[in-house]
Parts: sequence; structure tokens; C-alpha cells
Amino acid sequence: MRVVSKLTPVRRALILYESLSGNTAQLAAVIQDLLEEAGAATERIHLRSFLDLSYEEAEDILKPYRTIMIGSYTDDKHLPPEPLEELMDTHTLSDKQVAAFGTGDTQWGETYCLAAYTIARHYQSPFSVLDIEQMPSGSDQEKIEKWLEAISDD
Ligand SMILES: Cc1cc2nc3c(=O)[nH]c(=O)nc-3n(C[C@H](O)[C@H](O)[C@H](O)COP(=O)(O)O)c2cc1C
Repeated sequence: MRVVSKLTPVRRALILYESLSGNTAQLAAVIQDLLEEAGAATERIHLRSFLDLSYEEAEDILKPYRTIMIGSYTDDKHLPPEPLEELMDTHTLSDKQVAAFGTGDTQWGETYCLAAYTIARHYQSPFSVLDIEQMPSGSDQEKIEKWLEAISDD
């Protein structure tokens, strides 16, 4: 039996995600569910909605959080997807720590989940990248939990 209270040391996390066909949205929802089961306070926002806010409104949302989890799909046309690029151009997240996650398709070889790795590199994430093949399934649960266990607000 899983002891959810020990799942993660994160007490509070903002989850921003970009998704076209739903896989990364689903992964963001699974991450949120696991965090909430573990007693963390979370907010999950589609990146496009976040970017529609004024700079001041967006910074107000970021303010209470030390840990920002950012997720994206990868496609071959625009790397990283444009909303991610806009986020990286607009918000330095200099007083935050970023944990990156993404979904992709291993058939793409070297660019597998490249957008998530790009986010991690840009924001100098101290954590490993969570990469999941397509839609997250039950067999990914352990990998997602292990990734969360390694993230702390400190
Ligand atoms: C045109 C196209 C290009 C893609 N290129 C890549 C790629 O370079 N690397 C990768 O890991 N996945 C690639 N994928 C797979 C998607 O990233 C993957 O299906 C992802 O889970 C989609 O996420 P979403 O449902 O959140 O939009 C590509 C998919 C499409 C349709």
C-alpha cells in the first residue's frame, strides 16, 4: 500500500502545462492528484491561459510558490512550442525552482521529450526531467511518484 503522506516533500506547487491532444494535460492532472493526496496545495493552469494574463497578474499567481512544475509536449515544427518560448522570454522565475515534465514519442529518437529538457535547461532545474511516452498509464505511476519524491521546496 502506498503511504501518500510520504510521497513528496513539496508543500505547495504551481503546475503550468501546454498540451495539444491531451496527453500532457492528463499527466499534469495525475501530478496534481498525487500532490494533493500527499497534502500539498496546488494550482494547475494551462499555459495559454496563464500567458493571457497581464504580466502583473501572472506574477501575482507565481508569488506564493517556490516550486513551479512546467510541462509540455514536443513537436518537430517549433521547439519548444511557442507558449513555452513566450514563458521563458517573459518570466525569469529567478526566485523559483522549476521541475520539468513532458510527454513525447520515443519514435522521434533524439528529440524525445526535447521541450521538457529545454525547459529544465533554461530554468536550470535542479531536478530530473519526467518524460512519459504519450498518454500516462498505470504503468507510469511508479515513475511519476519517484519523480515527485525527489522534489522538495527547500
Ligand atoms: C507532428 C508531430 C511531431 C512530433 N514530434 C515529436 C518529437 O520531436 N519528439 C517527441 O518526443 N514527440 C514528438 N511528437 C509526439 C508528441 O509530443 C506526443 O504525442 C505528445 O504526447 C503530445 O502531447 P499532447 O497530447 O499533450 O499534445 C510529435 C507529434 C506530432 C503529431
